[in-house]
Amino acid sequence: MSQSEKTIQIHDKNFKIYLTRVKILEYVKQLSEKINRDLKDKNPVFLIVLKGSVFFAADLLREFKYPCSIETIGAKSYGNSTVSSGQVTFYLSSLYLKDRHVIIIEDIVDTGLTLKSLINKLKEYEPASIEAVAFLSKPDQRKVEVPVKYIGLEIQPEFVVGYGLDYAEVGRNLGDIYTLIEE
Ligand code: IMP
Repeated sequence: MSQSEKTIQIHDKNFKIYLTRVKILEYVKQLSEKINRDLKDKNPVFLIVLKGSVFFAADLLREFKYPCSIETIGAKSYGNSTVSSGQVTFYLSSLYLKDRHVIIIEDIVDTGLTLKSLINKLKEYEPASIEAVAFLSKPDQRKVEVPVKYIGLEIQPEFVVGYGLDYAEVGRNLGDIYTLIEE
């Protein structure tokens, strides 16, 4: 594996290495063990929140050893900024969730507004249950209370990119996670 760059620039901002791919996979493994244990008999529907969660979801779901279905949903709240806009738009495909156990897969939970609105929206589909798994969580940033049953790692209120997370649409394809250098 090639060594990660220690600092990178995206648009007008500089970022430094925060979590390497090796560490990321350790957290994913811990999560997948819990999820395998809890969901083996549930035939769950994993709902991947686009676009940020695709890398995390691919790693996590490759480790899920039991029958399940996978759906996607588009959500957008940050626009081109590093601060959540609070306005969440969903791009719904046809979802068949009635009486299913739904597990939302999120890259990161920040204010909680996206997840909260999504859970409210999904209730209209009458699933048997709704839970969420997030790779990262910033608990100090919460504006609304929202249940996240599975969390990979809690972090400080800082802006991060990589492993699906972007700054104005750049940085998603980075294998490692980087944090903003405040200037
Ligand atoms: P929330 O609605 O404030 O919880 O924000 C959730 C969404 O905002 C996430 O799914 C991400 O797309 C985005 N987001 C939150 N924090 C960050 C970050 O540090 N970097 C990049 N995107 C973020």
